[in-house]
Amino acid sequence: MTELSLAFALQTPADLHAIQKLEERAFGPGRFAKTAYRLREGVAPELSLSTIARIGGMLVGACTLTRIAVGGAPALLLGPLTVEEPFRARGVGEALAQRSLEAAKAAGHALVLLVGDPPFYERLGFVRASWGQFVFPGPVDPGRILFYDLQPGAGEARRGLVTSG
Ligand SMILES: CC(C)(COP(=O)(O)OP(=O)(O)OC[C@H]1O[C@@H](n2cnc3c(N)ncnc32)[C@H](O)[C@@H]1OP(=O)(O)O)[C@@H](O)C(=O)NCCC(=O)NCCS
Repeated sequence: MTELSLAFALQTPADLHAIQKLEERAFGPGRFAKTAYRLREGVAPELSLSTIARIGGMLVGACTLTRIAVGGAPALLLGPLTVEEPFRARGVGEALAQRSLEAAKAAGHALVLLVGDPPFYERLGFVRASWGQFVFPGPVDPGRILFYDLQPGAGEARRGLVTSG
């Protein structure tokens, strides 16, 4: 049998339906209540920075970056990052996030924020925000707010209200 190969690409509008289905399977309807979802609502994902993984043509993972503003200045929100359950723990999630971060850096962005599990994202270089540094427009567990500097010192220097970009 031929081994199916893993391929990474940037998201295109043609992928959005399959990505939504993947997120539905991973997060269920509860995803709509999340504050991070509210920030993304009505804002198109930044497709040139958002990545997908395919195995044999089938979408198995996606990482989305969306424009936000933090303290009035531009930034990016990472998420959702999702890998289809049978394909987890093979490095796909980490590779998707790394590729999106590299694309964002190459495009000249300074700062990426997310709300997620610190043990996973700290491995990728994200650091925890200090208490009260970033104010989200809804309830967020403060211990799960992380940032990633695409430019040195960008996160430390920034604070304030997080709004849709
Ligand atoms: C989180 C997720 C994207 C990781 O994708 P993945 O392809 O399995 O990740 P990788 O293979 O690159 O990394 C796997 C490692 O991360 C760890 N890991 C996975 N999810 C984790 C989590 N939520 N918290 C802490 N560590 C986690 C695994 O234990 C594994 O560790 P190991 O290498 O020491 O064994 C995937 O598990 C997923 O889609 N989960 C459901 C959706 C979700 O919770 N997304 C994140 C919030 S936006």
